[in-house]
Amino acid sequence: MDGWFWSSAIVAFVGLIGLLLYLIISHFMPLYLKLGVAPKGSFGWPLVGETLSFLSPHASNTLGSFLQDHCNRYGKVFKSHLFCSPTVVSCDQELNNFILQNEEKLFQCSYPKPIHGILGTSSMLVVVGDTHKRLRSLALTLVSTTKSKPEYLNDIERIAIQIMDAWKDKKEVIFCEEARKARARISSTVKAIVEERRSKGENSAGNKKSDFLEILLSANSLSEDERVSFVLDSLLGGYETTSLLMALAVLFLGQSPAALQQLRSEHESIRNVKGKEEYLNWDDYKKMEFTQHVINEALRCGNIVKFVHRKALKDVRFKDYSIPCGWKVLPVFSAVHLDTSLHGSVLDFHPWRWENQSQSTCKIFTPFGGGPRFCPGSELAKVETAFFLHHLVLNFRWTTEGVDQPMAYPYVEFHRGMPLKVDRLG
Ligand code: HEM
Repeated sequence: MDGWFWSSAIVAFVGLIGLLLYLIISHFMPLYLKLGVAPKGSFGWPLVGETLSFLSPHASNTLGSFLQDHCNRYGKVFKSHLFCSPTVVSCDQELNNFILQNEEKLFQCSYPKPIHGILGTSSMLVVVGDTHKRLRSLALTLVSTTKSKPEYLNDIERIAIQIMDAWKDKKEVIFCEEARKARARISSTVKAIVEERRSKGENSAGNKKSDFLEILLSANSLSEDERVSFVLDSLLGGYETTSLLMALAVLFLGQSPAALQQLRSEHESIRNVKGKEEYLNWDDYKKMEFTQHVINEALRCGNIVKFVHRKALKDVRFKDYSIPCGWKVLPVFSAVHLDTSLHGSVLDFHPWRWENQSQSTCKIFTPFGGGPRFCPGSELAKVETAFFLHHLVLNFRWTTEGVDQPMAYPYVEFHRGMPLKVDRLG
């Protein structure tokens, strides 16, 4: 009797489990087939997830141990829990490109709340939809009217010359501090000009609007808050990143005598056909071909922006895996810049790799992002760096011995501000 009872109970139990499994599978299978599999990975600790290890500092020309370990364990796309949200991290060039190109369709810019506090709620990196389109179109107009103007080009060259003048009797300079000083000078000048023009009413209708500030002050589509944010975007987004780019180029050139020599020859030949005191112009900039390769390589090795923040607006299927709606998505640019299957000798500073590169390069090289959020200031950053390098290589030699390495915190910083031994030429 006992035996019969237990065997019936076991049969009933197994049957029940089977039925439950059948119901679960038949319910979830279509969803599973539709979405594919969520990437492998781990959510880490409750609440903080894996955020602390994700943010742990490392040399900016390396992946860092978190990404290295996770890519080895789970592949180039993995799930995690970062910045208080379930997240898909992508170190895959194709997925990164897909994310950037589908901004506002499948994905949307989504910076963490503390960053909103720093940038302000009207910052272009924070706003989305129509407000973003409005601010962005103004930014693009401003950049295209400013970038090749002699007034702007002369101004940035004058600043470079002033910095070099201040170095002429020094043996050592703390490079990052020098560049930030320059920043304070520029931002106080901008504020003074805004005030002055306001008080003179130069922005009133009917005036010919020719420069950055005139266009900005007369843009009636902007609220006061947006106008201030706009200037801050340019100052914060622009000067910090541009001075970092200069620092990275100076560091890597200091470690690559062949690249420095070729760069110096390029600038000597440009200067030889101009008067000693004559300002550089847009045509000169266009002739700086090797300089462009040096700048690209400094961006690839230095990784000023390691990753950007997005969220999925819908369930997204890409290749074999799915990204659930509402999850955070982080395309990691540095991982693509340091991907050995895309770039040869990834750890070497080798500007020549950019010779004869075609447009398709932009998919494997995204220091300025891509798609509808592509950095509007990229050309300004490059021309400022090129003019700075022009005066530096023609007037100074420097050594980077014992210089601190750039570290990704993930924001790139030189621990000791990059002390350089400088020596004026001739
Ligand atoms: C080396 C220098 C620079 C680097 C590496 C850099 C990098 C980037 C990247 C990666 C983005 C895309 C962010 C995203 O997709 O979420 C971006 C956006 C932006 N950058 Fe830059 N940037 C640089 C210089 C500048 C300069 C000089 C300015 C202004 C004068 C500027 C203003 C902006 C603004 C306003 C955005 C937001 C664009 C949008 O959301 O539509 N940046 N930058």
